Amino acid sequence: MDRKSQVASVDRVFNFSPGPAVLPVEVLQRARDEMLSLPGVGISVLEISHRSPPFDRILEETLHDLRALLGIGADHELVFLQGGASLQFSMVPMNLLRGQPGPADYVITGTWGQTGAKEARREGRVNVAWDGASTNYDHLPTTGEITLSPDAAYVHVTSNETIQGVQWKHDPDLGSATLVCDCSSDFLSRPVDVAKYGLIYACAQKNAGIAGVTAVIIRKDLLDRSRDDLPSMLDYRTHVKNGSRSNTPPVFAIYILGLVCQWIRDQMGGLEGMARHNATKAGLLYEVLDRSAGFYVGHAKPECRSDMNVTFRLADESLDKAFVAGAAAHRLVDLKGHRSVGGIRASIYNAMPLEGVTTLRDYMIDFQKKHGG
Ligand SMILES: Cc1ncc(COP(=O)(O)O)c(C=O)c1O
Repeated sequence: MDRKSQVASVDRVFNFSPGPAVLPVEVLQRARDEMLSLPGVGISVLEISHRSPPFDRILEETLHDLRALLGIGADHELVFLQGGASLQFSMVPMNLLRGQPGPADYVITGTWGQTGAKEARREGRVNVAWDGASTNYDHLPTTGEITLSPDAAYVHVTSNETIQGVQWKHDPDLGSATLVCDCSSDFLSRPVDVAKYGLIYACAQKNAGIAGVTAVIIRKDLLDRSRDDLPSMLDYRTHVKNGSRSNTPPVFAIYILGLVCQWIRDQMGGLEGMARHNATKAGLLYEVLDRSAGFYVGHAKPECRSDMNVTFRLADESLDKAFVAGAAAHRLVDLKGHRSVGGIRASIYNAMPLEGVTTLRDYMIDFQKKHGG
């Protein structure tokens, strides 16, 4: 059975949710097939001990495959934590800012960067190095517009702002500062030069699996900054020392992350292949916006448009509801934009098939024809 008929046979729609989000069908099928009994184990992955040999293998393989995909070198540790990306908004400053002489610099390119800065302020001094609020976060700064502190403890960026749909197209080049990046919504969607970063964090429920696990990649020398007055579960050293098992880890979420890594490696051509696939999909939708003669208005400026979250509105806002309802009738769901931006947001993460995007594209063109564009 080909993919299309498999999908049809289980009545799946095209899910444009910003997260938790669409998963590869192959991953869901494998999880289903192994649900009652992991091959050779006789126990479901939902039931195994996190200290058992089968989970040793799952954890080791997942760490190994993720390191290989991203090209994580010996200078960086990789750990799996809980608490979502939101807990990292606090753990990053607790570990890297507490006790440091300089402030933390935040480049705020959207809602998530804003939230990260807000949490960091609870811990120490924050310098807003740039903030795009005045244009509702529709673009990124040029390097010259960013005001870095000479003694910054770190500089925090958000590689992809999920709500506004703006994405750094390259690893930001911000001099010698320790770069910290919230990669939650474009993690594993393209290659990243990990060596450039002090710390990268990403929740899994967009491109990398399901909610419950957050990957943190931290340069080893930064672990020396954590102070002994931190609660141990909030101290990166605890998790590194205990190999992501200082308490019971989210076993199933790690298992799914492992399957997603295998899917990217074996079926999508690694992160290079993934990036090509994602750029093709995004390009199809941006082309519709650009050819619509103002019927559809993109939120992000063209040079920083996200390949993950395509945000736009209809020039005639009274058509928004009809657009979303009509889309659902075409099996295209969860397209309503976030309330802070309005309009439409199509989240087209790694696992969104090309067919989902071409169906949306065709629907958009038809909708414009029907509504006088
Ligand atoms: C860029 C970004 N950062 C952080 C978060 C928060 O993640 P979590 O819900 O795992 O705490 C999200 C969730 O949508 C996000 O998109």
